[in-house]
Amino acid sequence: MYSEKVMEHFTSPRNVGEIPDADGIGEIGNPICGDIMRLYIKVNNGKIEDIKFKTFGCGAAIATSSMVTEMVKGKTLEEAMKISNKAVAEALGGLPPNKMHCSNLAADALHRAIEDYKKRRNGQGNAGTAS
Ligand code: FES
Repeated sequence: MYSEKVMEHFTSPRNVGEIPDADGIGEIGNPICGDIMRLYIKVNNGKIEDIKFKTFGCGAAIATSSMVTEMVKGKTLEEAMKISNKAVAEALGGLPPNKMHCSNLAADALHRAIEDYKKRRNGQGNAGTAS
């Protein structure tokens, strides 16, 4: 059975949607079931100022997506990179064993969004500088 926290995040997920001018986007598919999660971040002063997600997946995937957005809002990129899928599942009070694979999306999508942000910044940041 799902924990109360999972049910609560599933029925009222936080931070659902897209950020049209996102600084980084992370997308990841679950190879086990084919579900997909996309996560958008807005970064200011090295911190995650805003974060939104769109998940085409089961209740556990939506709950973990919602939880990860709550866990990292306002955090630095370094802190956000340290959050693991396991930590997200634990913050939800655990998941049933046959649903653990659903928690594999959340932190991975977040880490991809941060990598995407860094890549975009490096692409713009080096213009004209000789080193
Ligand atoms: Fe696909 Fe849960 S069944 S993420």
